[in-house]
Amino acid sequence: MVLSIASQKGGVGKTTTSISLAAGLAHQGKHVLLVDIDSQANSSKVLVDDFPHLHADESIYATIIDRKPLPVRLSTIPNLDVVPSHILLSNTDVKLTAAIDHREARLKAQLDVIRERYEHVLIDCPPALSWLTINAFTASDRVLIPVAPGYFELDSIVQISKTVQVVCNAPRADSTAPMCVVCDP
Ligand SMILES: Nc1ncnc2c1ncn2[C@@H]1O[C@H](COP(=O)(O)OP(=O)(O)OP(=O)(O)O)[C@@H](O)[C@H]1O
Ligand SMILES: [Mg+2]
Repeated sequence: MVLSIASQKGGVGKTTTSISLAAGLAHQGKHVLLVDIDSQANSSKVLVDDFPHLHADESIYATIIDRKPLPVRLSTIPNLDVVPSHILLSNTDVKLTAAIDHREARLKAQLDVIRERYEHVLIDCPPALSWLTINAFTASDRVLIPVAPGYFELDSIVQISKTVQVVCNAPRADSTAPMCVVCDP
């Protein structure tokens, strides 16, 4: 299954949930791939040993911008592979504006080639409903939305649900699940 962890709201626990879920499944012996599609690259900083020396063409940038195969590498955790991100990805929306191919499906096209190798594929999304997030949704079977309990926080679910609904017209993302992850007891 391919699962996007997404919310346009920042700092709600997307990356923490992605890493914890991926590491937990890998620890149980599942073969897991974590795709970091956020230009902040926080998952990559945690999971990739030589991250500071990583070039853009060794990251998801190669797939989203240059339409190359996914640059999968081993993570610091057994059974967990990772496709790292890169700061240059922050310019993606500008670069994709003039694209005339199926720009929303660049990740899906390359993920379809390798997804059979994994029992679980998780995608750590950026805090925006951008072309990167649309690429993640188009490649996903499910979307998990971390939310902190609170009025404004719950409000953010409305917009992201509408976006998922639009992408649902393409065949893959057919379900969302809001998940309360951050709380202040
Ligand atoms: N379940 C949790 N309970 C309490 N704090 C949490 C929880 N999950 C994450 N945090 C904390 O919240 C902060 C933001 O977490 P994280 O970076 O995972 O969010 P994010 O949604 O990925 O952020 P961004 O939108 O910038 O990518 C971090 O300091 C993290 O330690
Ligand atoms: Mg994050």
